[in-house]
Amino acid sequence: MAAPPWKLPVDYLDPKSASAPSPSRSRRLAKQTIHVVILLLVGTVVLSQFHLDILRFRFAGSREPPRFDKSATFTWDQITPTEQLVYHPCFDGYECSRLHLPMDWNRTDGQGAKVALAVIKVPAKVPVTDSRYAGPILLNPGGPGGSGVSLVLRMGRNIQTVVDSADAPDEPHPLEGGKYYDIVSFDPRGVNNTSPAFSCFLDSAARQAWKLQVASEGILGSSDGVFDSRWARHESLGLTCAAQEDGEEGEWIGRFMNTPTVVADMVELIERHGEWREQETARILRSGCRGSLNEIDTAEAIRLRNRWVPGQEKLQYWGFSYGTVLGSTFAAMQPHRIHRAVIDGVCDASDYYAGGWLTNLQDADAAWLSFFELCASVGQGVCPFAAGEGLQATVDRYENLLTTLKSNPVAVPASGKRGPDIITYTDVKMLVAQAVYTPMKSFERVARLLTDLDHRNGSAFADYKDQERLDWRRAPPCNPSGSKPCMIPGENYEAMMSILCSDGEDIGEIAKEKFESYWHTLQDQSETFGDFWTEIRFSCIRWKTRPAWRFESLIAGNTSYPLLFVGNTYDPVTPLRNAFKMSRQFPGSVVLQQDSVGHCTLSGPSLCTAKAIREYFQKGELPNHGKICEVEEKPFHVPGIQPNRVLSAADMKLMFALRSLAHDEDPITRIPGLHLL
Ligand SMILES: *[C@@H]1O[C@H](CO)[C@@H](O)[C@H](O)[C@H]1NC(C)=O
Ligand SMILES: *[C@@H]1O[C@H](CO)[C@@H](O)[C@H](O)[C@H]1NC(C)=O
Ligand SMILES: *[C@@H]1O[C@H](CO)[C@@H](O)[C@H](O)[C@H]1NC(C)=O
Ligand SMILES: *[C@@H]1O[C@H](CO)[C@@H](O)[C@H](O)[C@H]1NC(C)=O
Repeated sequence: MAAPPWKLPVDYLDPKSASAPSPSRSRRLAKQTIHVVILLLVGTVVLSQFHLDILRFRFAGSREPPRFDKSATFTWDQITPTEQLVYHPCFDGYECSRLHLPMDWNRTDGQGAKVALAVIKVPAKVPVTDSRYAGPILLNPGGPGGSGVSLVLRMGRNIQTVVDSADAPDEPHPLEGGKYYDIVSFDPRGVNNTSPAFSCFLDSAARQAWKLQVASEGILGSSDGVFDSRWARHESLGLTCAAQEDGEEGEWIGRFMNTPTVVADMVELIERHGEWREQETARILRSGCRGSLNEIDTAEAIRLRNRWVPGQEKLQYWGFSYGTVLGSTFAAMQPHRIHRAVIDGVCDASDYYAGGWLTNLQDADAAWLSFFELCASVGQGVCPFAAGEGLQATVDRYENLLTTLKSNPVAVPASGKRGPDIITYTDVKMLVAQAVYTPMKSFERVARLLTDLDHRNGSAFADYKDQERLDWRRAPPCNPSGSKPCMIPGENYEAMMSILCSDGEDIGEIAKEKFESYWHTLQDQSETFGDFWTEIRFSCIRWKTRPAWRFESLIAGNTSYPLLFVGNTYDPVTPLRNAFKMSRQFPGSVVLQQDSVGHCTLSGPSLCTAKAIREYFQKGELPNHGKICEVEEKPFHVPGIQPNRVLSAADMKLMFALRSLAHDEDPITRIPGLHLL
């Protein structure tokens, strides 16, 4: 095999400085950084916010063709919701279903309101009658409130490459026992294409007006008074969302979207899959085409293997970020139904259900520090923001830029494509926060944008921000007198608030002073993330709606198969320590560590991690507890492990999938605050 095409020139690298930050060094530097920033904050009480939206902006001038071209004709309302899983072709080679579920799982009379769950599947590469068919792997992208449909459309095929057997199914001498999976996900209750939607705004215009105001107020900490106006904003939105309930008769979605309810939906989904598999088997066998290579695999054997035994279907799962809360809650509520579950980018479930959000930022500053370490190590030729005199000089350059921007935002004249704009302290803080989620994709862009700003040139940054407004303008024409609210599906970040506020303890009466000291606690945890992370819990200060029922037990259990926890050495919002803590609650589970920076393992391409996850799904093999995997590549084209290694064809195929996952336009899971804007 020739050298892998993704291998990059390495002559400019000092391999020693390019290695992962050593904790002691990081901590020392992080301290210096924190010190500087604290000085910045003196005299300006503040908070952060949803400028977060800028995080979703796509880079202007990106060369990608519009996605899902061929899907232009598919809309979810073409599908009539059904009690059974009925798949319809959708988008470009996917299959979609709308599954009817009771709004209230505790109702036994079969009456009452319904939820139509939007389900999407990348079909397995073999038919269900093939002995190598291994069922669905369910995904959840996090959030909470992330769209599983969107995740599958963006990443489903590459994720299938990771979990499937390395061989193509029609290869003449396939690997023995190789398996092929359906990749399945769904929009959780209240989210995107699942109906009814959860929404607190009259229409998209009202929501956008709100978001623009939040954005222009700035992130907490960006100036005096932001905390006070943000307090009032969260109060008004909380009261607004609570008022939706009064307008509804009977079962209102806001009371039925907490995580344990979604676990019940997942149980139904896998049971209905069992039913679908049995029927699909019968259909194929009737058609006379067995779809199996194996001569001794008789029709009767196939039928037996694929029969649905109600109540016995098991879960195969890969959940990211908040998806780890969902996965571990499933494991606690339904321990006997675990066949495989990868828990990636691990949240501390007790903290999440307490509504604390206090166990997320422990490694955040060290993660951002890696930007400076890598940037300084590759030098100005690759990282234009490198200050020449080593690491500290580059850190200082950034701190000075932030200080300058606070009092002197950069004025950006209009271009042919967009109106005039300014680039502020808030913009930079949000850019950085998003970048640390996905360093592979983002660090180079950050280096370019920061360098431009240092020269008082904000035009590329303004283009970047403008993408979001382009999305607004693309909103479908709206008829306010129509029966449906005028809304772009998926934009209702209130769904996220509803899920996390109703999962957490009630803080609907919390005093302002108490919340202000919570903000300072998070600021002390992380200079980079503390301000905007505060927005998550902030959204619950006047959230009145409580869920119809909660799961009160500890998130722990003896599962029918061990869980696989995975985490990165420096994950900005789900620190590795959570993986070890959660693993202790699930006997037999193990922790796999990926030695990289970023949120969830897919943010860094690692053949070692991917193969460990594949072996776990394929053969049930667990890595040794505490095993550490290196990545193949780091930001700024810095090579990871064994840069000159020659890869097999199978590894190259896997590497291509991993690279495009790491460079995906949207982060695997959005910063929660993003939706608050
Ligand atoms: C509702 O259902 C859940 C799970 O099925 C159960 O644990 C809970 O006790 C029920 N709550 C009520 C109020 O019946
Ligand atoms: C500002 O930066 C962009 C690239 O980011 C560049 O194309 C443009 O020429 C710069 N403008 C000025 C006035 O230097
Ligand atoms: C909602 O789902 C559609 C596909 O139906 C997808 O294109 C879109 O990105 C999703 N929206 C969000 C906010 O995830
Ligand atoms: C798991 O099983 C062990 C041994 O039976 C028991 O001691 C432990 O409490 C169980 N743990 C959970 C979380 O159920």
